[in-house]
Amino acid sequence: MRIFICSDAAVLSHQAGTFVANVVADNPQTVLGLAAGATPLGLYRELGCHHDQGLDFSAVTAFGLDEYFGLPAGHPASFRHGIEEHLAARVDLPPARLHWPDVRPDADVAAACAGYERTIAHAGGIDLQILGIGGNGHIGFNEPGSSLAGRTRLVRLTAATRRANEGNFSSPADMPEAAVTQGIGTILAARRILLLASGANKAAAVAAAVEGPVTAIVPASALQLHPDVTVFLDAAAAADLRRRDEYQAEAEMLRRMGLLR
Ligand code: GLP
Repeated sequence: MRIFICSDAAVLSHQAGTFVANVVADNPQTVLGLAAGATPLGLYRELGCHHDQGLDFSAVTAFGLDEYFGLPAGHPASFRHGIEEHLAARVDLPPARLHWPDVRPDADVAAACAGYERTIAHAGGIDLQILGIGGNGHIGFNEPGSSLAGRTRLVRLTAATRRANEGNFSSPADMPEAAVTQGIGTILAARRILLLASGANKAAAVAAAVEGPVTAIVPASALQLHPDVTVFLDAAAAADLRRRDEYQAEAEMLRRMGLLR
């Protein structure tokens, strides 16, 4: 993993925005995997600025990472709604190229999840998967205990995750109890992965994911098995890392050597 520690969330968003913009500039047909949640919003804002300066997203394809089960697409708390509002509309990503798992309550979920995997495969696989991390170490909605090889499927949300997200709903009772998520196996199949975390409430999960053992109890620790993971952290999220100084020294060396853009 390549770890970059930024002074604060604004710098993190700026640097992560430059990282993703370079990927899209290098390959205008990039296939992105998109996490919702609060953490990537600044990155998506930055991509809007890059688009204003000419970066073309019209040939980009994107796949949502996860979505609440049974929530209508236009629901203000749906991840789809968030991505459409904060990214797709800002960067002219064609609606037909932005894919989501089918979470309609009457859908044949297993068939829909298998279909989602096929759609990703038909697009050539995901080039860059953007991830946040839950306070319990989840990625997407792969909660502790998830198979490290799992694929897109219906999952039950833990009480901790429901508590962390219920503020997005008008009442806690409206918070769905289930979601559809790309599996950890789906995530690991991406060619590159970008993990973002900011805030002290993520510090323990980040340390366990980056420096702890690979274990299903910390789903993000599976990222250690992927050969191309870039992690952007703010100082608060990096606070529990034992090798923090080493990561900073390496980033400085790479910058000095001109190996970072
Ligand atoms: C949520 C989502 C994830 C997200 C993570 C962190 O529950 N399932 O896709 O990355 O938890 O969310 P946030 O960035 O809002 O802290």
